[in-house]
Amino acid sequence: MANLQKALDYADQNYESFVNGLKEIVAIPSISTTPESKADVKRAAEWVAAQLRSLGMEKVQVMPTAGHPVVYGEWLKAGKDKPTVMIYGHYDVQPVDPIELWNNDPFKATLSGDYLLGRGASDMKGQLVATLKAVESIVKTDKLPVNVKWLIEGEEEIGSEHLDAFIQTHKDLLACDFCLNPDAGMIAPDKPTITYGLRGLMYAEVRVYGPERDLHSGLFGGTIHNPAQALIELVAAMHDKDGRITLPGFYDKVRPISKEEHEAFARLPETPEEYLRMTGVPALWGEPEYLPVERVGARPTLEVNGFLSGFTEEGSKTVLPAWAMAKISCRLVPDQTPEEAYRQLVKFMEMNAPKSIRWEVKSLHNAGAAITPRDSAGVKAMAKAFQRVWGSEPLFRREGGSIGVVVQLQQHVGAESVLTGFGLPDDNIHSPNERLHLPTWKKGIAALIHFFYNL
Ligand code: BES
Ligand code: MN
Repeated sequence: MANLQKALDYADQNYESFVNGLKEIVAIPSISTTPESKADVKRAAEWVAAQLRSLGMEKVQVMPTAGHPVVYGEWLKAGKDKPTVMIYGHYDVQPVDPIELWNNDPFKATLSGDYLLGRGASDMKGQLVATLKAVESIVKTDKLPVNVKWLIEGEEEIGSEHLDAFIQTHKDLLACDFCLNPDAGMIAPDKPTITYGLRGLMYAEVRVYGPERDLHSGLFGGTIHNPAQALIELVAAMHDKDGRITLPGFYDKVRPISKEEHEAFARLPETPEEYLRMTGVPALWGEPEYLPVERVGARPTLEVNGFLSGFTEEGSKTVLPAWAMAKISCRLVPDQTPEEAYRQLVKFMEMNAPKSIRWEVKSLHNAGAAITPRDSAGVKAMAKAFQRVWGSEPLFRREGGSIGVVVQLQQHVGAESVLTGFGLPDDNIHSPNERLHLPTWKKGIAALIHFFYNL
């Protein structure tokens, strides 16, 4: 108890230096999908490794993969009778476009009122630094009550592609009792949240080719199938008029929502009105027989992430484009798999593509859909920590986003994850003007300190 209080006091007294630490890493533009950012991604990995070393972690290494490196570190001196917690994080971020919509430089890490602004401030450099600073508060005033292993990757935002092989080849190194994963966020500043389900992802690029070069739309329009139109027709046919996805067999493995779970969904504060408020749309869309929280958390989707074809500059050009491209992704739920969804997309194209065009589908990346336990020792320790800091029990929800590592750890290490975090729905993650609500973040650090002692 006395030691817990010392760690909490340390966190209070060093809050400003914690924020400065976070600003340092937010300022590193570690965009994993952009090849030109490779050196910056590496620099972010080195920053994390230096932090781990300064916390007295052992075997700290920046370990290469076929993609961006994994940062590993451990401290196993709490004793064999104590649990070993893996702490997961990612130091990569999403791209910043459209850059003109940002009010600040995304990599300047700017303080504004209660917020820290910048790409990755919430997703998830803020969450990563919260765990680093919670551990710092303990190791500077006491010693850690549990064993820890850190697994900090640089490819989460591109599907954790090479992490899978990394985990498979380092099963012994990564053996643990469970994983703390703070990449999942919370529902509102006064509603600490534990996430027990994540959707999976299948991401693909579909290209349609027509004539061998762009043509004059007057000389050839009417006798050549316009590839932009052909692709639009195909994409439009991927949903029926009720918003149901038409890829063959798409719903075969979808696990139904139980009555008990439906009632729990209905108690969550994310009402239809809340979705309207958060997004500014004039009306919601989707399967009418499910609640919006269910459609996001427990039903699969197919989204067009981007579309490219023809002349899109200012002004006009009468052209019949030679090709069209769409980036298409499906959010998946248990027991769908990304591999199957990809085959279903290809099958859809085989069945529906007209003879007037050629086409190809390329798989970009995948993540598995996960359900995690709601009553494990780790979840209980986290729930008790929230009770202490927020004075209320956490809400349990299934989240629509994806985090590749969760299923990878279930499959290869047999480890379950405790999914939580201190990011908020209006943090603008993946959007312009990403931000982190610092008062919530500060409480989160205190909750993590409690969590380690509760274990
Ligand atoms: N932290 C998010 C996922 C998330 C957000 C989970 C909020 C729960 C609540 C994560 O960094 C993310 O965005 N993942 C990507 C993964 C994908 C590229 C495989 C996603 O969901 O788009
Ligand atoms: Mn993200």
